[in-house]
Amino acid sequence: MLNIKLSLIFFLFFYTYLIKSQTTENVKKSMTEVTSIYVSECLKDKDCPSNSIGCLYNFCYYKFYCIDNNCISSTVYDLNKNYTNKIVGVCSQEAFNKKECSTSKCKSNEDCISNNCVNGTCMSNPSSPIILCSNEYDQGSPYIKCNKIAYEKCNNNNECFSENCTKNKFCSKNYDYSKKDKASALFLLKAVVGLIILILISLIISKLLECSSYKEEEEYMEEEYLEEEYMNEKVEKGKTNKEDKIIKQNDIIKKEKSNNDNNDNDNDIEKNETNVNEINEIKVEINEFENNNTNENKIKNNNTNENEMKINNENEIKNNNTNENEIDNNITNEIENNITNENEIENNITNENKTGNENEIK
Ligand SMILES: *[C@@H]1O[C@H](CO)[C@@H](O)[C@H](O)[C@H]1NC(C)=O
Ligand SMILES: *[C@@H]1O[C@H](CO)[C@@H](O)[C@H](O)[C@H]1NC(C)=O
Ligand SMILES: *[C@@H]1O[C@H](CO)[C@@H](O)[C@H](O)[C@H]1NC(C)=O
Repeated sequence: MLNIKLSLIFFLFFYTYLIKSQTTENVKKSMTEVTSIYVSECLKDKDCPSNSIGCLYNFCYYKFYCIDNNCISSTVYDLNKNYTNKIVGVCSQEAFNKKECSTSKCKSNEDCISNNCVNGTCMSNPSSPIILCSNEYDQGSPYIKCNKIAYEKCNNNNECFSENCTKNKFCSKNYDYSKKDKASALFLLKAVVGLIILILISLIISKLLECSSYKEEEEYMEEEYLEEEYMNEKVEKGKTNKEDKIIKQNDIIKKEKSNNDNNDNDNDIEKNETNVNEINEIKVEINEFENNNTNENKIKNNNTNENEMKINNENEIKNNNTNENEIDNNITNEIENNITNENEIENNITNENKTGNENEIK
């Protein structure tokens, strides 16, 4: 029981200390503390810490006023009575002289955050100017920027939160949006161009990879297909050769066996003869592949035979021709003989006529 009580007390003490430290932390912060605040994303005001004004454009919005490195959140004015009803606005002499600046009427220095009330106006203290720390966006990501509040005295734009130091040497309340717009536009342009380039590069790379892989695959497939085809052809050739040889050899063995079996039978002599013939034919078939050269020689021999035949034929033809000539000679001889015979007959006739005539004459 004692332990439980002790632990409960310890827990309460720790809890209150935590809350207290948080609230006191909220009251005063150094400028480095403020600038190191992580600007978190949000949907509602409740998503943001108590020192934040609330949720603005999905980011927790902060506003701190700092004098001499003491920063107080704008929200604290309601939490801490010491800071309530204080006039946040300030006027520099430069702005006041140009009648551009006015604050709520102050009665004493304590009414002003600048702790300087002059003729009812909260005037700035050039030795300790009011610094505004608030949300700023650098290339889309928010952070806390600290710089001189509006109407504070300035020499250049970099001194002002608005980044606008007027010709009359005071920070303008009009924010230099053109600069920011330019920056954001440049950032947007960079982002868009970068994105487009990235997409293009990734597209090209993916296309190249796809292409090369496809090409490689295609080539590989083609190679494999060719190789497969070649192997199939080889295997089939080997198979057919082997099969043929085996079948033929088996046939020879069978036939020779049957021959041996049938040798004793005188009746089957004819069969044996045919078997022997078949065996011889098969042997010839087997040897045919190997005897191509001898076949060629045979063909050559045939050719020479043919040539010889031709020569013989030619000779025969020549002989025939001489025969014909002889016949012709015979014929002419016969004709000549005939002619001589005719002459003889004529002579005979003339002779007969002569004798006749002689007889008549006689
Ligand atoms: C407010 O400030 C005064 C003096 O500056 C101080 O005495 C007082 O304790 C403060 N009050 C609180 C609630 O902090
Ligand atoms: C304050 O105001 C009064 C009258 O309005 C003027 O006479 C006086 O010079 C002013 N003082 C300063 C410091 O501006
Ligand atoms: C700077 O402030 C002046 C005065 O408020 C204003 O006229 C001018 O337009 C501002 N300049 C820029 C760039 O915003």
